[in-house]
Amino acid sequence: AFNERESLYIVLNFAKDFFVQNLNSEEGKSIGLSYFKERGFNQSIIEKFDLGYALEGWDHLHKAAKAAGYSEELLLKAGLILQKEGDANRFYDRFRGRVTFTIHNLGGKPIGFGARILTQDKKQPKYINSPETEVYHKSDILYGIFQAKKSIREKDNCYLVEGYTDVISLHLSGIENVVASSGTSLTENQIKLIKRFTDNVTVLYDGDSAGIRASLRGIDMILEGGLNVKAVVFPEGEDPDSYARKVGSSAFSSYLEKNAQDFISFKIGLYAEEAANDPIKQADLIKQVVQSISKIPDPVIRSVYIRQSAHLLEIDEEIIQAELNKIYLKGQ
Ligand code: GTP
Ligand code: MN
Ligand code: MN
Ligand code: MN
Ligand code: MN
Repeated sequence: AFNERESLYIVLNFAKDFFVQNLNSEEGKSIGLSYFKERGFNQSIIEKFDLGYALEGWDHLHKAAKAAGYSEELLLKAGLILQKEGDANRFYDRFRGRVTFTIHNLGGKPIGFGARILTQDKKQPKYINSPETEVYHKSDILYGIFQAKKSIREKDNCYLVEGYTDVISLHLSGIENVVASSGTSLTENQIKLIKRFTDNVTVLYDGDSAGIRASLRGIDMILEGGLNVKAVVFPEGEDPDSYARKVGSSAFSSYLEKNAQDFISFKIGLYAEEAANDPIKQADLIKQVVQSISKIPDPVIRSVYIRQSAHLLEIDEEIIQAELNKIYLKGQ
């Protein structure tokens, strides 16, 4: 007899196979596959990431899974079907008429799905994701970690992006050491997961205000986790996927190399323009930088950053140290 977790892995794997096979159906080919092809996704990347298609209609997966012997209870627990409101005996598929992105755990087992709408329907969310289940804890996993772990170790660096398609696009550009936070804010456990493979993270968030705000939050979290962090800013309106497709893979790789800034330069770059002729904003900027430095647990690394930021901000190290002391005193 299987325990519940194992049953969940099995039914999620069944759903993965179902979505993958749907891509070969008439509907799947003309809608799902052509969508992926338009985005430049080839057959080999589709297989590498177990990309698939959820057919239109209320119960294609439900029916197929039932015929294969899976209970509704298990399908509900896996987040694959939902109970109809006011009618506990009627069910419908969670993912319908969308392309699917399989979310794998570290060992490569499917644990959930993200599903993207194909049209620009403003009334529906762009992505629908699996809910929390016994095997899928959003805050413990990063999209792409299974496909990335070997490369993260080899390159001793992990690129962190926002979206599923950013991960896939980077692989298409030959960059495999990449994971996505999937649009939610980074957690301590996700950082610990990266830390199993490297101490170095480069944040590649979208070039919009939401992306920049998220990078600032992410950077402090990563520093707190004891990792080194850099950030790359993309032109307004671009994300790693759109930018890689726009400029091509070799220009994209050199863009990453040329534009990776340590977190101090990144913060200074964001605020410098506003702060140029404004002493109050300059003081704010210094405090912002010190705030990040205060998150670094290692005193040796911290002192390196104190020196560097004193230099970049053209102030004495003692001032930074004094600000740090204030933060530490407050924290006690
Ligand atoms: P594309 O438009 O397909 O290129 O996706 P994207 O990844 O660029 O989307 P975006 O930058 O808007 O969002 C980043 C990530 O946030 C996505 O990959 C999803 O994981 C998540 N996300 C985006 N929109 C939604 C949504 O409507 N609902 C939920 N739950 N998550 C979303
Ligand atoms: Mn958990
Ligand atoms: Mn965005
Ligand atoms: Mn995006
Ligand atoms: Mn995008």
